[in-house]
Amino acid sequence: MAEINRCGAALLPLAVALIGCSLVAAGAVTGGGSARRLLVDNGLARTPQMGWNSWNHFGCDINETVIRSTVDALVSSGLTSAGYKYVNLDDCWADNQRTKEGYMAANPEKFPSGIKALADYVHSKGLKLGLYSSAGTRTCSNRMPGSLGHEDTDAKTFASWGVDYLKYDNCYRDDSNELVRFPRMSHALRNSGRPIFYSLCEWGYMDVATWGGSYGNSWRTTGDINDTWTSILNNIDQNDAYAKYAKPGGWNDPDMLEVGNGGLTHDEYIVHFSLWAIAKAPLIIGCDVTGISKETLGILSNPEVIAINQDRFGIQGRRVRKYDDEIEVWAGRLSGHRKAVLLLNRGATSRRSITATWADVGLRRGLAAEARDVWKHETLPGRFAGRLTAEVGPHSCKLFILTPVGR
Ligand SMILES: *[C@@H]1O[C@H](CO)[C@@H](O)[C@H](O)[C@H]1NC(C)=O
Ligand SMILES: *[C@@H]1O[C@H](CO)[C@@H](O)[C@H](O)[C@H]1NC(C)=O
Repeated sequence: MAEINRCGAALLPLAVALIGCSLVAAGAVTGGGSARRLLVDNGLARTPQMGWNSWNHFGCDINETVIRSTVDALVSSGLTSAGYKYVNLDDCWADNQRTKEGYMAANPEKFPSGIKALADYVHSKGLKLGLYSSAGTRTCSNRMPGSLGHEDTDAKTFASWGVDYLKYDNCYRDDSNELVRFPRMSHALRNSGRPIFYSLCEWGYMDVATWGGSYGNSWRTTGDINDTWTSILNNIDQNDAYAKYAKPGGWNDPDMLEVGNGGLTHDEYIVHFSLWAIAKAPLIIGCDVTGISKETLGILSNPEVIAINQDRFGIQGRRVRKYDDEIEVWAGRLSGHRKAVLLLNRGATSRRSITATWADVGLRRGLAAEARDVWKHETLPGRFAGRLTAEVGPHSCKLFILTPVGR
């Protein structure tokens, strides 16, 4: 299928490369497999998106006071400097019905100053604003209209307000399938006159990972996350099956972070964040950052863990060894001949010894490597050859970067 790109014409990929429009051959620079195909590129999402979204903590209870205080807290806590740039309103931001002229409008009680004013405020702090809609007649809350049949109007409205990101949900759909409804908004956004990050939220139906990269910058591979250990592991396991489809420009999305919402222990939240980091998942904070604790901030702003997520190669790390129902090794290639290695103990009771072999993590046998523990911020003494073994407590993990020495 020919794609419409930002130059405004339907073109074959080769012709586009010749005239220099914004298409990239991601596979050529990152060394990925054949799944890393040519894609239409809006210039966004060169690394997984980082930001905040209202849903996991506030649900429908949002308003401009909450969002402005969130913006202020993102800046004052240092989260913005750590890389979190998008401030995304989820469901319930809009008025219940369209205007007489057919436009979406902000809910006048919750956002009396309107979305344009909010976008201006967000931009004045160096951040970007995201909105939410659905590829159906209503959004999931049924408190606002969806964009089905109004894609062009809504995309232009969002662009005129200065919106930078759209999360597009899948409630109140008609009989047509996701491959019809989600591309429509992709084209509408590309014709809107503003680069808008497109986050598909069709819950992993229709194997979205296999086509999401042609239309959007990230795609949900799972149902909704919740603040439980089971949910977090379920989602990341489901997401792992699609690892080969992630690449600069488009990412698998196992859903937003629950870190800081209180349902998990500190160690469990470290597992949650480590898995999202190594799997190149979007890092979208889902807690109330206005009263963020030191512990939560310590997890979300760990620069060494964020650097794994934001590595320029954009290669999704995956499970490379499952020893039994409790212990696993996850690994992924990083720039500079390095590997990220996660030793995971899913068990609830025992401390376990977990070994990552060089064969499993993709290092040449006999190669010596240094191991950096990115949660302890310390490089282990000595060099490792062939394997790395560590003790890992129940519902915990260790996350290392292996750097070969004297290759
Ligand atoms: C805004 O929302 C917050 C959080 O839900 C709530 O505590 C506050 O009362 C609301 N403020 C207004 C003006 O509606
Ligand atoms: C949380 O998610 C898990 C599946 O991942 C599901 O079994 C459970 O019902 C969910 N809990 C709630 C409260 O939604």
